[in-house]
Amino acid sequence: MTIAAQSALLATLACSFLYYGCSGDGSSSGSPDATQDGGASGSESGPGGSTSSGGSIVGDEPAAGGSTSSGGAPSDGGARSDGGFAGAQLLEGGAGGEAGDAGSNFDWHLPAGFPVPLVPDDNPMTRQKVSLGRYLFYDVRLSHNQTQSCSSCHQQALAFTDGRAHGVGSTGVVHPRGPMSLANVAYASTLTWANPLQTDLEHQALVPLFGDDPIELGLGSEDELVTRLEAVSVYSGLFAQAWPGDPSPVTVEHVVQALASFQRTLISGNSPFDRYQYGDPSAISKSAQRGYALFNSTDVGCFHCHVGFNLTDHVNWAGKAFLDRPYHNTGLYNIDGQGAYPAPNTGVEHVTHRPADMGRFKAPTLRNIAVTAPYMHDGSIATLDDALDHYSAGGRTITSGPDAGHGNLSPLKDPVVQPFTISAEQRADLIAFLQSLTDDDFLHDPKLSSPW
Ligand code: HEC
Ligand code: HEC
Repeated sequence: MTIAAQSALLATLACSFLYYGCSGDGSSSGSPDATQDGGASGSESGPGGSTSSGGSIVGDEPAAGGSTSSGGAPSDGGARSDGGFAGAQLLEGGAGGEAGDAGSNFDWHLPAGFPVPLVPDDNPMTRQKVSLGRYLFYDVRLSHNQTQSCSSCHQQALAFTDGRAHGVGSTGVVHPRGPMSLANVAYASTLTWANPLQTDLEHQALVPLFGDDPIELGLGSEDELVTRLEAVSVYSGLFAQAWPGDPSPVTVEHVVQALASFQRTLISGNSPFDRYQYGDPSAISKSAQRGYALFNSTDVGCFHCHVGFNLTDHVNWAGKAFLDRPYHNTGLYNIDGQGAYPAPNTGVEHVTHRPADMGRFKAPTLRNIAVTAPYMHDGSIATLDDALDHYSAGGRTITSGPDAGHGNLSPLKDPVVQPFTISAEQRADLIAFLQSLTDDDFLHDPKLSSPW
């Protein structure tokens, strides 16, 4: 790596750690200051056009395409019975499918309704980088004490989560938040639960590799990693194939580029629900079909935030007209009557220090949700049934202990999270729908498994 490139990498590494305490410089760097006040979020056109209201947009493309007013249903909310998938359907045979990166040898083979992911110009997809990234993702040499790899906390069978409420790093340190599913992470407009500055997979990977608060993989230096990888014969071939002509291709910059390329192939779009949506009316039960209608009803209102082909409003793709980075407070906590969440998990507020950002988190994809328990940023909801209790109450009530409070009374709660009443049968229908989002091909695809 050139000295300039290395110092750029280290500078972004520092920025990547913003979440972990270096807020001073980083928060003056732009993005957080662009957080929009007022609760109204922008809508957009394109696959699964987002109609969320009441969320904050953090970004430089505020509310273009028309803002929806907060405090009520989105303008087309009552009319749409098919959620965001209608938009996704328009893409069939269009951007989805066989499109490849210009200048690369990579074919996406995208599921129906999936747009082409956005890929940084300086890291085009190639089969060689994806292949190398897969080895790295599953390699315990990426942790200082050689006990953990990325896959320790991101396991394929659990849609790349690990079944824990909190990540546990290679030295036993407990992470304040839970590992997130990496399904369709190529489409995330920002990464992690609530960091508007964490925008690409290349830089995000530096955090688990080198971060020390909390320690995840706990590498001490770039040299430690490079020296270790250079000693492994399979890597000399893999790095050389990925960067032919580079006399010393084993660099940290290339490691994170390959990891990012592999992660962009973690695409999940072949659940029974997708088969139902794209041609097989019997692919999901009648109960799941009713659940889908409820999910998209204005009463239950899940679609406000879990919308579109990836069941989240926090998506980006190549050529997307407007960059949306909405974050929402769902009323999970309200420990002081003013909407406070327990530190350090105060959501976007932890980065921006703006009181209005308290408790605002990214709405995760609901794909494969049946296998990614426990739920929420801190794993504080054990089951899908409990998640429905939280939402049907219009925010969770905790009756005792330090986190006690009435989430439904939080002044910071997104106004679309309102109490609703459903029968036992309707509850079962909603859960059947959520279960129909499990993509067994993805959970067992040998191409995404350990190559070792
Ligand atoms: C110790 C457990 C652990 C290890 C090891 C780990 N992660 Fe994570 N990962 C997490 C946790 C916890 C989060 C949520 C972080 C947050 O919100 O601050 C996360 C979040 C992510 C995200 C964001 C996903 C999204 O949807 O926004 C990506 C990408 C990611 N990890 C990739 C990796 C890669 C690549 C590696 C290996 C270099 C890795 N992780 C190693 C626990 C882990
Ligand atoms: C106002 C936007 C919004 C609405 C409406 C909404 N959600 Fe969410 N959802 C979120 C956010 C934000 C999170 C993460 C919250 C956190 O971790 O504190 C989340 C998390 C979840 C999770 C846990 C995901 C995970 O990976 O841990 C489930 C399950 C879920 N929502 C289901 C639903 C269902 C079902 C509905 C309708 C009853 C719904 N949501 C309505 C924004 C929303």
